[in-house]
Amino acid sequence: MRMLIALVFVVAACGKNTEPPPPSSGTPGAPTESGPGAKKPAVGADDQAQKMFMTVCAMCHGSDGTGNGPAAENLNPKPRNYTDPAWQASVTDEEIKKTILLGGQGVGKSASMPGQPQLKDQPEVLDGLVKIIRGFGKK
Ligand code: HEC
Repeated sequence: MRMLIALVFVVAACGKNTEPPPPSSGTPGAPTESGPGAKKPAVGADDQAQKMFMTVCAMCHGSDGTGNGPAAENLNPKPRNYTDPAWQASVTDEEIKKTILLGGQGVGKSASMPGQPQLKDQPEVLDGLVKIIRGFGKK
């Protein structure tokens, strides 16, 4: 009898879904599929924005948004500290979007801040980035 109970337990444990996570493609800026008949991307734009932030923006802005990314060391001026409530209050979402699209050069800020003009065609991803940046201010 005891054997049986143990066996049931083992079978139940094996039934668990333990798929490994998908490999990350690691290609920021890669073209997204938009073939004929492609509906709104099922993969959330927020996910895409998150991935982009972590692979591209975090290099300078830091994964915690404080501007301490590995590539920020030699920058002058340094990237903004997104967790600063005074800064959060001083900019509008529109200004943030404009800076992301045009880069620092396009808005009179440091040219070290690269623009992402291709996001003009992916407003949901752009919105996602703004959400991430705003999120750093809500700690
Ligand atoms: C190569 C480094 C670098 C990368 C990569 C980078 N930034 Fe920046 N970013 C900067 C710097 C430096 C500034 C500050 C410019 C200034 O204050 O003159 C800045 C400023 C900004 C600002 C404006 C903040 C303000 O003062 O209003 C926003 C918004 C921003 N970055 C978003 C992003 C996003 C989103 C990404 C990724 C898509 C990104 N940045 C990638 C360096 C970078």
